[in-house]
Amino acid sequence: MMDQKEMRDFILKTFHTRYTCKGYDPEKRVADEDFNVIMEAGRLSPSSMGLEPWKFILLNNKEIKKKIKPFAWGAEKSIEGASHFVLILARSPEDMRYDSKYIEYIQKNVQQFSDELRIPKREKCRSFQTSDFRLLESDRALFDWTCKQTYIALANMLTTAAMLGVDSTPMEGFDRDKVESVLIEEGVIDPKHFGLSCMAAFGYTNRDHRPKTRRCMEEVLKVIE
Ligand SMILES: Cc1cc2nc3c(=O)[nH]c(=O)nc-3n(C[C@H](O)[C@H](O)[C@H](O)COP(=O)(O)O)c2cc1C
Repeated sequence: MMDQKEMRDFILKTFHTRYTCKGYDPEKRVADEDFNVIMEAGRLSPSSMGLEPWKFILLNNKEIKKKIKPFAWGAEKSIEGASHFVLILARSPEDMRYDSKYIEYIQKNVQQFSDELRIPKREKCRSFQTSDFRLLESDRALFDWTCKQTYIALANMLTTAAMLGVDSTPMEGFDRDKVESVLIEEGVIDPKHFGLSCMAAFGYTNRDHRPKTRRCMEEVLKVIE
């Protein structure tokens, strides 16, 4: 076991060394054991009201990747060489409305809330979606909120990969309508339930990368006493 100091150092080293990989060695594969941990980090991520509005697709199919590539400029350097290429889907606006079957399923079957708990929670969700965040103003507002949740899973996967010495690329550099059309055509997604939020590649780099640049803490953190 690491002591507290070792743990701090390990965490900071992880965040300093994680970077966006811009080209992968196609010969190097991420071990199943490592990839499984990366996916567990996604699955176990927090989400607003615990609704887990994501699905992860491990895309191994070369033909489908080839069809996506022209519409995914941000994935150009990773879609072929990366060991694992993951699509992160977000639930549709229809599924994310407070009164949907999906939310009922999550609250009853996954969270195991009794009706006594579930009914007030649904009411809370209704007022949150209707007035607090005004998510029901448009399907777009609701879908964007859903996508925000998936980025938490994305971030956890990237950090976990870095802890395991696996290089990664987060991606939203794509034409969503066009990539979704390919995925629908190929039977990868059912648009009634899912849209494409973002993508992530994992593998081992084949090139050097620029040193990390970030604003300093003084610029980022303000303390109010
Ligand atoms: C949500 C998100 C989407 C991104 N999309 C892309 C992308 O499509 N292609 C790419 O090469 N990098 C992409 N990046 C990587 C960023 O450019 C990168 O994280 C940033 O420049 C900081 O560099 P670092 O990750 O190496 O620290 C994305 C990052 C995030 C968080």
